Amino acid sequence: MTISDNNTIVIFGASGDLTYRKLIPALYHLYASNQLPSTFSILGVSRTQYDDESYREKMKQSLRELEKTEPEILDAFCHHLHYQALNTSDVDEYSKLVCKLDQLADKYQLEQQNTLFYLATPPSLYGVIPSCLAAHGLNDESNGWKRLIIEKPFGYDLASALELGKQIHQYFEEHQIYRIDHYLGKETVQNLLVLRFSNVMFEPLWNRNFIDYVEITGSEFLGVEERGGYYDGSGAMRDMFQNHLLQVLAMVGMESPSAINADSMRDEIAKVLQSLQPLTEQDLRNNLVLGQYTESEVRGQFLPSYRDEQGVADDSRTETYVGLKMFINNWRWNGVPFYVRTGKRLPTRVTEVVVHFKKTPHPAFAENAPENKLVIRIQPDEGIQMRFGLKEPGSGFNVKDVSMDFHYQSLAETQMLTAYERLLLDALNGDATLFARSDAVNACWKFVQPILDFKQDPQALFGYACGTWGPKEADQLLERDNRKWRFPCKNLTDTDYCEL
Ligand code: BG6
Repeated sequence: MTISDNNTIVIFGASGDLTYRKLIPALYHLYASNQLPSTFSILGVSRTQYDDESYREKMKQSLRELEKTEPEILDAFCHHLHYQALNTSDVDEYSKLVCKLDQLADKYQLEQQNTLFYLATPPSLYGVIPSCLAAHGLNDESNGWKRLIIEKPFGYDLASALELGKQIHQYFEEHQIYRIDHYLGKETVQNLLVLRFSNVMFEPLWNRNFIDYVEITGSEFLGVEERGGYYDGSGAMRDMFQNHLLQVLAMVGMESPSAINADSMRDEIAKVLQSLQPLTEQDLRNNLVLGQYTESEVRGQFLPSYRDEQGVADDSRTETYVGLKMFINNWRWNGVPFYVRTGKRLPTRVTEVVVHFKKTPHPAFAENAPENKLVIRIQPDEGIQMRFGLKEPGSGFNVKDVSMDFHYQSLAETQMLTAYERLLLDALNGDATLFARSDAVNACWKFVQPILDFKQDPQALFGYACGTWGPKEADQLLERDNRKWRFPCKNLTDTDYCEL
């Protein structure tokens, strides 16, 4: 990976959870593995009053708690940390930021003021900060590039996403905007593309002629933890489905890009997301299952119901589970159902795609021959498993379900970057390939909008006990079509669910 130009990274929301749990550790690792330029500085910005020294101390302490650190490297890294207290909603206060950036440019003898602004703030500031930056000329690229990283959620629904896009585009051009979806930074999500487009043996089968259906699962064992206040206004649909899972679906469904660069890749992603079959009222009634977890004991641990979580309303109707049968309306996928589910407090944390191939046209050896299936495991036990039928040893021609698998772990020599490390590095290098473009984000919101309207007052919200695979109605979604969800284990190769 090339080392980016000398630059300053400004983190808005510098005293928040995301900064200390994800961003600073990611930057520390990049620094420790010599992937940051020789001259760089990180400037934390938020309302809380710190100075450079006290901010360094706070970050140092949290890095020590969260990560394995080397004292010398940690000291050297923290030397690059600086801080500016600022009321981020007050445009006049941004003159302090300009001043601090000038000081840093002097200190580090920067010829160009290349600046990456990371908005790790509440979404209500996503429109405000860019306008304040622009008011002080901090969007002007004549003296070095200026880029904005914006965290999810980008909007709350279709109308607010369009409005936010319009607001930001008044001050920053699309090539300056990096909308982060950390799933795109996951090595195994990117691998989906390499698997599909760098091998000749999958792509000819990758269409409605040979694929029966596709499952996409994003399950979590954790509940809402301390984020009940945020989550109750969001739900699984906005928190996981609209962004992460639709991006994974796009990787499974998209056409081959003409080149691996930001424009070609994102053209194909946008195209497939724009081809999602719009959901009708009948789809919402028949093909959508919303659920909410209820209390239970799992592996000896009592887990409270969603409504008993801190920050959640006692009568909340927010969904912590979504299951949906959906379609892509294009030549490749017409008629192939995609069953997509995500939920909190399911038995285990697994993200995977399962591609089920059609049966042989003439079952010469067995009426019930095992189906051909490709399991693409995004996390944990990252890898790929191919399942198919082979002859059972002995007399006759009995067919047995067997598998071949690849585990990322076996590439022990390769150090995998975490999603945040990869995406920060890409943004510093000006590579937007793995960031969501506005047309794709809008297409996702457009697709989910009927669900958002429906879930305002859902006629049906099913309970499921913590530690189960969601409401039974979600099973029926597939059973109606004579199919079944795969119940994945944390180990890719176990065929039955086996968490211990
Ligand atoms: C975040 C959601 O975007 O993704 C969280 O807000 C969720 O609720 C998380 O837990 C899941 O990410 P990962 O990388 O752990 O699968």
